[in-house]
Amino acid sequence: MLNGKKILLGISGGIAAYKSVFLIRLLIKSGAEVKVIATKNALEFITKLSLESISKNKVYFDTFADNNYYSTEHIALTDWADLMIVAPATANIIGKFANGIADDALSTSFLAFNKQIFIAPAMNCKMYEHYAVKRNISFLISNGVHFIVAPSGELACGYDGKGRMEEPEKILEFVGNYYKKENVLKGKNVLITAGPTYEAIDPVRFIGNHSSGKMGFALAEHFADLGADVKLISGPVSLTTQNPNIKRFDVVSADEMYQKCITLFKQTDICIMAAAVADFTIDTKSDIKIKKTAEPPVIKLIPTIDILKTLGAEKTVKQILVGFALETNDEKENALKKLKSKNLDFIVLNSLNDQGAGFGFETNKISIFDKTGNNAYFKLKSKKEVAKDIADYIIQNLKK
Ligand code: CTP
Repeated sequence: MLNGKKILLGISGGIAAYKSVFLIRLLIKSGAEVKVIATKNALEFITKLSLESISKNKVYFDTFADNNYYSTEHIALTDWADLMIVAPATANIIGKFANGIADDALSTSFLAFNKQIFIAPAMNCKMYEHYAVKRNISFLISNGVHFIVAPSGELACGYDGKGRMEEPEKILEFVGNYYKKENVLKGKNVLITAGPTYEAIDPVRFIGNHSSGKMGFALAEHFADLGADVKLISGPVSLTTQNPNIKRFDVVSADEMYQKCITLFKQTDICIMAAAVADFTIDTKSDIKIKKTAEPPVIKLIPTIDILKTLGAEKTVKQILVGFALETNDEKENALKKLKSKNLDFIVLNSLNDQGAGFGFETNKISIFDKTGNNAYFKLKSKKEVAKDIADYIIQNLKK
């Protein structure tokens, strides 16, 4: 199930720490290699010797220990691992994760880890329901951390309620299911555009828009996580990509984006145009800086090529084409018009009237319409979660 995976298991100081031994055994049985990072409190509940004997690896628990292989062990370990599981995760360690506090081996490693993280919380039911814990958990979820919900049951403190750490078998099943999905788009070529385009007026000035590229980049990361080969064509943004399955092409103007899209579209299975492409460009760009004159210059604009519409006209039945529509009024009507006129399979609508949706925000609120008349409405979510909703919707429809 997890064959060949290198797993960092973080253990924090809860009574469920004793179950870690079973979890390590199950992970190894399913083909994974496990290295443990424990907090000092965790080692009050379970011995280092038990963890080292079962994992067959040294336990990392002291950032400044003399016998660390490297002075920056948290970096070496996080480079080594493919994924991280933290079980049990106490309210305290979750609070540190959510607030970027790095004061021990586990919290420091968390900050240095930029791959998939799975957290199995364990705490008293009143702590689990506390608004601070709830806020921390939802913040981590919105940043792509996977939570394995704590079930109800008898707790070590005598209470009966939500907060038990999920059983090791269930943790294994949860993580295994995630990686089953990982390869669902293996072999598929996905083309994504992101960010704004800049139309130069002269060598120092341009006409642009407020797109940050966050939605397109979140889509690229998510599709790459699902195993697709992603080509990301990005306008000028200050974002980086993580997944090695993403090949990035940087462009500036609408015309450069068009040229790149046309070259790559033929080999594309799924194309998602999330970029905010300029509808107009400058008729005659000045090669030298335009000087301040008494008479203000008049800049003549001419239309750019509608990339999405061009791809829609070229599209074969095997290709899926997805557009975005950012609207301020008559949202649904306008989106449906674009779906039809650009020959799309799906259109993702976001309205500037929705609080927290659109340019610059970490969040977005979307609805999806498809050419067969189906639709789905989603609540306000982080752009990472929105990327997942869009991918799930497309994949479901691919199956149909
Ligand atoms: N788009 C494109 N090429 C353009 C303009 C837009 O490929 N020159 C794409 C966008 O990437 C998006 C979709 O078309 O996926 C809709 O963009 P939007 O700006 O909402 O619509 P327009 O067709 O430009 O119409 P309008 O600006 O009038 O709403």
